[in-house]
Amino acid sequence: MAQWTSAVGAAQLARLLNSQQERPAGPGTRRPPAYRALADGIRLLVLEGRVPVAARLPAERELALALSVSRTTVAAAYEALRAEGFLESRRGAGSWTAVPAGNPLPARGLEPLPPETLGSVIDLGCAALPAPEPWLTRAVQGALEELPPYAHTHGDYPAGLPALRAMLADRYTARGIPTMPEQIMVTTGAMGAIDAICHLFGGRGERIAVESPSYANILQLMREAGARLVPVAMAEDLAGWDLDRWRQVLRDAAPRLAYVVADFHNPTGALADEDQRRRLVDAARAAGTVLIADETMSELHLDEDVDMPRRMCGFDPAGSTVITVGSASKAFWAGMRIGWVRAAPDVIRSLVAARAYADLGTPVLEQLAVNWLMSSGGWEQAVAVRRGQARENRDALVAAVRRELPDWEFAVPRGGLTLWVRTGGLSGSRLAEAGERVGVRVPSGPRFGVDGAFEGYVRLPFTVGGAVADEAAVRLAAAAHLVRTGASAGAEAPRTFVA
Ligand SMILES: Cc1ncc(COP(=O)(O)O)c(C=O)c1O
Repeated sequence: MAQWTSAVGAAQLARLLNSQQERPAGPGTRRPPAYRALADGIRLLVLEGRVPVAARLPAERELALALSVSRTTVAAAYEALRAEGFLESRRGAGSWTAVPAGNPLPARGLEPLPPETLGSVIDLGCAALPAPEPWLTRAVQGALEELPPYAHTHGDYPAGLPALRAMLADRYTARGIPTMPEQIMVTTGAMGAIDAICHLFGGRGERIAVESPSYANILQLMREAGARLVPVAMAEDLAGWDLDRWRQVLRDAAPRLAYVVADFHNPTGALADEDQRRRLVDAARAAGTVLIADETMSELHLDEDVDMPRRMCGFDPAGSTVITVGSASKAFWAGMRIGWVRAAPDVIRSLVAARAYADLGTPVLEQLAVNWLMSSGGWEQAVAVRRGQARENRDALVAAVRRELPDWEFAVPRGGLTLWVRTGGLSGSRLAEAGERVGVRVPSGPRFGVDGAFEGYVRLPFTVGGAVADEAAVRLAAAAHLVRTGASAGAEAPRTFVA
């Protein structure tokens, strides 16, 4: 067993199994035997990510008691799961969930389609919006005016331009979290920030606890850094963080790092409340785990009445347990490639050294542009435009999906850029495959899971609105039809797709 393992108790597993909606047997179909229904239920929980891969399952006797079935039923279900590759057992040690080799599509990151290849394809792969003009143009013009004094320097600022570090520090201070410029490093996007953090703390073989599901590209970055991912399932309704589970994992696995998106989580859109944040930080501190709080989506509260809880670093202002990562990519424009880290000054010094061998620093002009936006008040206006676009797109997409695919289920998030959709029992990987044939590119659930979980999901971003959102839903419904009728299996993807 390569992974660190979590455990699922008998009562917890029984609750999860009982919460699965029983699908009515169609006319002429016979109910499966009890062991088969149990095996299918557990398999579905693994594929949907509600039970993590490599989780230890309860002993047969305990599960039989919790479910009020015979031990023979549980033994036969476990045997069937073993035969199908969903369970691994070691005599005397127990049984762990697994995903068979070659299961649907391997989980990978997300690569945006080059804009010039888009043509008639609706790209739902990338959760990023076009620049909120005229603010991009104004910011670049403002930056050009401020460039001359920098042109006389070497131009290398591995911790970031002093002016932008001070600006970002002041913004945290204004939110009631006192911050010095020495606590800030400017990075090349949030990706650059998390890459540096993983290099500093998450060496080869280190454990990193991650939400399950989580943002695909960060999971991939961590895998490639050689980390061992420890998935922590989101609460059963996928609406938030199960703090008992988090405390248990942090205590038992004592991972070096944990990665959390508490503000409009990607992909579920969930928002952690203040109590969950406080308890997460306390649990990390007690376990000696460094908590990466990814605030990339923080400013994208889309509904007027969202009451934003205190930032995670508000529970650890010194920044020794919580390392905050921010970004201009979602609030403003991903093309800026500006991100930042807030942490204790000594952590920042080590991070600056850690990133020196990757990119030496972040482009000066873009830093000046973000600094211009933040000092001119343009940032707030641009973010307001951005929120408006995302809100309209969300509402259009939600309405279109409800109309075209009434059996798809989702919770409408109050912010962020993504809708996490349960696809009515259809394989997300097959849908992605079929989507490529009907001109809609959609990332399947397993990309957001560890080891192939979340087969029954897709992620839809708020990047299209109006008639395009309607057409996207029509094409998704066509893809669903192909999958349902078996017409998509084995279809070859057209060459225009890169992912
Ligand atoms: C949660 C989260 N973190 C980080 C990133 C990457 O951000 P950046 O473009 O700043 O590298 C994204 C982009 O989708 C994201 O959703």
